[in-house]
Amino acid sequence: MSFLPKAVDKTFVPPVKCQGIKTKLVPFILDSIEWSGDGRWVEPFLGSGVVLFNAAPDRALASDVNPHIIALYRGIFTHEITASTVREHLEREGAKLRQTGPGADESYYYEVRRRFNETGDPLDFLFLNRSCFNGMIRFNQKGGFNVPFCRKPNRFRKAYVTRITNQVQHLADIMDGKDWRFQCCDWRKTLAECESDDFVYLDPPYIGRHTGYFNTEWEDKEARELARRARQLPCAMALSMWKQNKHRKNEHIDEDWSWATERTREHFYHLGSTEELRNSMTEALLLNKPSPTSTPA
Ligand SMILES: C[S@@+](CC[C@H](N)C(=O)[O-])C[C@H]1O[C@@H](n2cnc3c(N)ncnc32)[C@H](O)[C@@H]1O
Repeated sequence: MSFLPKAVDKTFVPPVKCQGIKTKLVPFILDSIEWSGDGRWVEPFLGSGVVLFNAAPDRALASDVNPHIIALYRGIFTHEITASTVREHLEREGAKLRQTGPGADESYYYEVRRRFNETGDPLDFLFLNRSCFNGMIRFNQKGGFNVPFCRKPNRFRKAYVTRITNQVQHLADIMDGKDWRFQCCDWRKTLAECESDDFVYLDPPYIGRHTGYFNTEWEDKEARELARRARQLPCAMALSMWKQNKHRKNEHIDEDWSWATERTREHFYHLGSTEELRNSMTEALLLNKPSPTSTPA
């Protein structure tokens, strides 16, 4: 039986954005998972955390190689960061962004970016994540956050600050009373801690691309090592991976994941207003235990 009492009908959107965020795929992922819920939900590539937060298990081990994501979420978990500290920070820093005068917004963004790269303040990380270009998380070789400003007048307007604050509060409510642990580390360390009752959800970077997520390159060799280690896990697992679009097929699935059970879902990326501009991608979920329900079209 699934540990989820019912399918998630309204996906909770977390306060952190990142490339490859699975918000639209959460219902598909969670509906595909069979797990007793007895052990821990283990997520070694946490990113925005959208899958964990919607699964909302009682026990979890969440990790990522990016220390800033972990520091922010750990801070919310321990109540060191709350909806009101977030509101205060974004209102104050948002006002400074505005007050520096028309056209000068950009310079205050870069001042915060410089400060963050020296101190690593989690609230500055949230400020940058919610005002940078496309909500991207990208670091240079020295570990410095290097995403440019997303030009928008009055970036931290009242409604926007309220939306972020509500996301933080909702997340604190989800975490309340849960036995969750956040750790900053490489995926191998987290996988090595798995036990038979756990469930592992894997969402690694796209194979073969320099992602810049946190000073890391996700190489083919590492992707293959993940497939090997996933196969040896003592517990159930699911891995998200793009399967194909109209130009390309992901050969890595046939080459390294042929042992897994596959479920697929069509996903549309809207690039424009017309039907022709919709770009379709087939997303796969690879599971190490057969799923009782059949693959939808
Ligand atoms: C595709 S994103 C995860 C997206 C997430 N599932 C979501 O919906 O927001 C991949 C994540 O893996 C992390 N990552 C990259 N290399 C890693 C490594 N060697 N060990 C652990 N995490 C790593 C990145 O920092 C990034 O947050």
